Amino acid sequence: MNDISRTPKHHNLEAGFEVERIRQDFPILGREVHGKPLVYFDSGASAQKPRVVIDAMVEVMEDQYTNVHRGAHYLSQTLTDRYEGVRETIAKFINAGSESEIVITRNTTEAINLVAATYGRTFLSKGDGVVISAMEHHANIVPWQMLRDEIGIELKVAPIDDRGVLDLDAYADLLDQNTKFVSMTHCSNVLGTIVPAKDIVGLAHDRGIPVLLDGSQAIVHGAVDVQDLDADFYVFTGHKLYGPTAIGALYGKADLLAQMPPYQGGGDMIAKVTYEKTTYAEPPYRFEAGTPPIIEAIGLGAAIDYVSAIGMDAIQTHESALLAYGTERLGEMPDIKLFGTAPHKAAIFSFIQEGIHPFDTAAALDRAGIATRVGQHCAEPLMARLGVDGTVRASLAMYNTTAEIDVMIAALERARTLFR
Ligand code: ALA
Repeated sequence: MNDISRTPKHHNLEAGFEVERIRQDFPILGREVHGKPLVYFDSGASAQKPRVVIDAMVEVMEDQYTNVHRGAHYLSQTLTDRYEGVRETIAKFINAGSESEIVITRNTTEAINLVAATYGRTFLSKGDGVVISAMEHHANIVPWQMLRDEIGIELKVAPIDDRGVLDLDAYADLLDQNTKFVSMTHCSNVLGTIVPAKDIVGLAHDRGIPVLLDGSQAIVHGAVDVQDLDADFYVFTGHKLYGPTAIGALYGKADLLAQMPPYQGGGDMIAKVTYEKTTYAEPPYRFEAGTPPIIEAIGLGAAIDYVSAIGMDAIQTHESALLAYGTERLGEMPDIKLFGTAPHKAAIFSFIQEGIHPFDTAAALDRAGIATRVGQHCAEPLMARLGVDGTVRASLAMYNTTAEIDVMIAALERARTLFR
């Protein structure tokens, strides 16, 4: 393919989505790195922030700041309303039945640890199986291993094929009578694979097994409807969804949350405290001890309003086109080995360049102003399954363009001549 045939493709792809207008909303995208325009391909690690998120957080600190849930004064009541409004925004965004099914957490990691520690310690016991997949982030492995070491649950791993597709038959076989819980990624942070979440939930529910879905990556790339998925728990983090760090959410079905004990003890999570006995608040407050991440929640609310106004379906369409274009361009390079070629995947490209160490490839990309992640991506067991020490990962977002993919391809071509 030559450049002349590519030019109209760019126009077709980005027409209607107004990616250039969206890029204007992200101040950092205007900067240079090493004298080159920044190409930000590390959104899977953390996405950039639109002006509305930055402004909302500054505005709270400049004009509305105080603690929430505590004061009788005007500012506290106003900010409490605004903070609780974010809970409603999150509930609506993922179509939860009620905002009381939304627990505000620090991130996905905290949400999974919360479920493992509360649901896990209460409802699982020695010999019970917990099923995960072969493409989990460490955040969905280690909390279950800690529970295994504490109470003796068994961790079972559903395999994937060489494309990074979950083996559904093997998964179903793991749902035997000992299995009591499934905790699985909705979208792999390394391979981009989007799992058939409804089938995963349905097969587990047929056997009465509850399911947690880790939506950290999935929620960014397309609309999520927890009631349609029928997930028992759904967790995600704000900073990958164009919001700030240190804010995330745990969705849990009301009847499950109601049966779970608190996670941490402290202020805000109680009904009544005496030295002899403490009773706990109803969910979601039972799981939210201490002053919550108020400013971060306001930022996340602004981020959700922002992506909702653009439309998750429109974002998905744009990113699918980026995925197709990037897959085609990387496929033209004989020295690139791509990991993760599932038919249903997000615009995440994990690859190695033959004969070049991934860190050298990433360094060459960095010199060209391109931010990628390199290494094991918090997924060491998956790297072992792929038979590599690490990969370079270009993870794209709604503000990326096919022209930026061309910049990466050119940098990879240069790396080939530099390092070999
Ligand atoms: N979970 C983030 C990633 O995949 C940090 O890079």
